[in-house]
Amino acid sequence: MLLLVCLFNAVNSSANSIHKLEDLPAPSGHWLLGHLRPFQRGPKHLVLENWAQECGDLFRIRLGPSKFLVSAHPHINGEILKRRPEDFRRHPKISEILEEMGVLAVFNAEDDLWRKYRKPTAEALNLRKVKSFYPILVRKAAQLLKRCGEFEETGAALDISALLRRFTTDVTTAIAFGYELDTLSGKDDHLQQCMEMVFPMVNDRMSAPLPWWRIIRSKRDRQFDESLSTVRGTILQFIGNARERLALDPSLKDKPTNFLEALLSEEQALTSEEVYSAVFTLLMAGEDTTANSLAWVMFYLANYPEVVSRLRKEAKEVYPNLDVPNTIAQHQHLTYAQAVVQEVIRLKPTSPQLILQAQREVKIGHYVIPAGTNIILQNRIAQVRDAHFFQAEKFMPERWLPKGCPVHANHQPDVVRAFGGGPRYCPGKHLALHEMVLVTSVIAKHFDLEMREHPDEIMEAFSFTMHPTEFNLNLSRSN
Ligand code: HEM
Repeated sequence: MLLLVCLFNAVNSSANSIHKLEDLPAPSGHWLLGHLRPFQRGPKHLVLENWAQECGDLFRIRLGPSKFLVSAHPHINGEILKRRPEDFRRHPKISEILEEMGVLAVFNAEDDLWRKYRKPTAEALNLRKVKSFYPILVRKAAQLLKRCGEFEETGAALDISALLRRFTTDVTTAIAFGYELDTLSGKDDHLQQCMEMVFPMVNDRMSAPLPWWRIIRSKRDRQFDESLSTVRGTILQFIGNARERLALDPSLKDKPTNFLEALLSEEQALTSEEVYSAVFTLLMAGEDTTANSLAWVMFYLANYPEVVSRLRKEAKEVYPNLDVPNTIAQHQHLTYAQAVVQEVIRLKPTSPQLILQAQREVKIGHYVIPAGTNIILQNRIAQVRDAHFFQAEKFMPERWLPKGCPVHANHQPDVVRAFGGGPRYCPGKHLALHEMVLVTSVIAKHFDLEMREHPDEIMEAFSFTMHPTEFNLNLSRSN
């Protein structure tokens, strides 16, 4: 790939001069493999962040034969995200790997096919729909609370990330299929276990220099195939059931009760394969991202008891006699819980970078980006920079409260791209935030949290989404 021209502006002192890719700074690398080895070895986002410290907000790397432009520049990143799907696309390797798994839908489709899927997906997850799903969230939060209570009673260590993945699976399947799996209670968890293999596998295949799995099938590849086939069987069964329901009651077409019914009622009829792809995508995109973000919330709650106290005070004011806030109006009053969630997402975005490709030659400000350029948008760097937030490295939920805090003099929420940006921003954002605020408030109302591990032992790991390494909690009932 040839990246030939880059015109620099304020970021670079040599403004308005023309540069080749080779003129951009690059970290030191291997003559043949380029930067592949360190990229594969460390958590990718941290490796990129270290390189940005060394080279600045705009630099180049080479992963084997593939050259990449890396941008941590918030304005350039915002502009690139906005100019999709016309000028930039997701990196084709993402689609190639997902298509190989039989999935082509809103996350990996481009152009008109993306538009076809984006509309029903965005409609199924818009704020009005999320509010109508609220009773599901309440039921699932109550179940989560019950499970946490069981751990508290026995004194057993709680692998909170695993429990949160069950919570998000139950919520997402209810919304996608209209059927409430009960993985939280340890039942129906086969689908969830199978889905858990997906992200790590996509991540490994994305960064593999060669597609070995197409030639030699390892044990893990075979297990993955089996998991995919289970997921496929389950989803196709749900599609069959929904088709039958719609045939029996055609009025459902005007008022679909879940994503699956909505897809099957689309004017432009979708095939079962297309519906399968769309539902798989929703399950894939909705589970790990939200569960991992919530795992980071729990990490902070365990380390900031004063934040738990304040959350508890708010919870007691907003829903004094209830275990879980059972109306959307109560949920909307949880302003401190919202602030905690925003702060965690800023510091620990589960998608710290996005990998794209230029579809054609594009000018952005003074930059010219040639067609075919591979681009990594590193978004977290700007989110934790003092230029954009007061004492940016610090965990300070107060910065997100509407008023009364000195930190607001330096507060630029626009640079937070944890949910992406532009026309392809995450359509699950409202759902994810509602789930997160609810769980944050409910857990803090009922429990004090203590980590079994020392906080310094917990690292950021990356397997397509960024998550904390495993930690266990001791829970004790609040007074
Ligand atoms: C805290 C939780 C979540 C985070 C941090 C997150 C983050 C993201 C990010 C960064 C993207 C890429 C956006 C872009 O390219 O600009 C994305 C896309 C997407 N997300 Fe989420 N997400 C979360 C939860 C969810 C949920 C709950 C769902 C649905 C149930 C969902 C569905 C999707 C879909 C379908 C896309 C593809 C959109 C497109 O390409 O048009 N996400 N998400």
